[in-house]
Amino acid sequence: MDKLIIKGQNILEGSVTMSGAKNAVLPLMAAALLVDGKTIIHRVPDLRDTRTMVRLLEILGAKIKFKNHTLEIDGSTVNRIEAPYELVKTMRASFYVLGPLLARFGQARVSLPGGCAWGPRPVDFHLRGFKLLGAVIELTDGYIQASAKKLIGNKVHFEVSSVGATGNIVMAAVLAEGVTIIQNAAREPEIVQLCEVLNLMGSKITGLGSNTLRIEGVNELVPAEVEVIPDRIETGTFLMAGAALGKITLKNTEPEHLGIVLEKIELSGASIQISGKNITVEHEGPIKPVNITTDVFPGFPTDLQAQWIAFMALASGSSIIKDTIYHDRFAHVSELVRLGAKIQMENNVAIVHGVEQLKGAQVMSTDIRASASLVNAALMAQGKTEISRIYHVDRGYEKIEEKLKFLGAEIWRESE
Ligand code: UD1
Repeated sequence: MDKLIIKGQNILEGSVTMSGAKNAVLPLMAAALLVDGKTIIHRVPDLRDTRTMVRLLEILGAKIKFKNHTLEIDGSTVNRIEAPYELVKTMRASFYVLGPLLARFGQARVSLPGGCAWGPRPVDFHLRGFKLLGAVIELTDGYIQASAKKLIGNKVHFEVSSVGATGNIVMAAVLAEGVTIIQNAAREPEIVQLCEVLNLMGSKITGLGSNTLRIEGVNELVPAEVEVIPDRIETGTFLMAGAALGKITLKNTEPEHLGIVLEKIELSGASIQISGKNITVEHEGPIKPVNITTDVFPGFPTDLQAQWIAFMALASGSSIIKDTIYHDRFAHVSELVRLGAKIQMENNVAIVHGVEQLKGAQVMSTDIRASASLVNAALMAQGKTEISRIYHVDRGYEKIEEKLKFLGAEIWRESE
């Protein structure tokens, strides 16, 4: 197992290009299962999670080529309908194959994902949605067995807006008979892109970017060629590093997906300049404390909560960070404390009392975003930090140490 070593407090300068979005490419790859032909996806981030999805699609029978950030997925050879536990347990987004398999083949068997580092993450909304479309759902041996001769459109109202459940139900509904209406649908840019791509494939989805989606079922979909949207979470992570440590430009990203994040960074005292698809952030004087509350898009993303806590660790006062999406997503807090951060927890609220200095230490990453927060904190800390279990960071950040090194950080990888 690899670990990352970071010697902190280098000034970050220069520019790097952001990768395609992990949370956009995974559902797009699943959508390729709907098509009897080749889907071509450009700007694919080469991540552990992308590779896991490649393996899963291959197990299902798809023929895949992955080269130079372009994926070619041939869905015409898909001939199996089971997503095994070994893969689903390592990546929850594997559950995305359920909707497309059920829609195209009338059945699917997908392992139940189980919990994750930040507590239970149920799939009940997905299952309720499939049932409303007429599927029979059974749980046997830890697997969800779904079947339906033909899915029938229906009204699906989500109690809580869910990215995964919206994506899964949309992918099932595109081949259903009749019209499906999804209320309280997720509006995240990754879901908007999924719907756009499905429309390119011949689906009839309207209401994109709103919380009501209308999907008129069609008989079949055709292949499409698409480019993944930029990763707003990667961009946000780098923006916070830049705001704390120098002046950097993040190229080929999408400022419109980062509205509240950019506002909050400006409130912290850093300056932001936008020029087309590039964002420049510059550290200006002390970091001011800024509160955040995570929310569904366009709210502050829960996937940047951990990094915000790390950023606020050096603020000139106290800030309050509340996660309303995942109440238990705070495993990074105890690791940040090891670096000298002063953080008090009250249920799903972290109160961060800014300190003068963080100091390098040995820490352990527990999930993708927690590890990114540790990387940022280590960049800000005096001395050397060793971050173990960095396979988490590799799940969601493409070449993080190369990008940071290019900006002037002292960071390298070692085998444990
Ligand atoms: C996706 C993202 C993840 C992000 C999260 C919230 C991907 C691959 N992952 O995860 O990075 O942190 O959105 O923006 O895109 N819920 C239920 N039952 C369900 C489904 C969800 O109770 O069946 C709850 C969850 O526990 C959570 C909330 O709904 O409290 C939102 O979760 P959801 O949007 O579904 O997250 P994911 O799609 O799993």
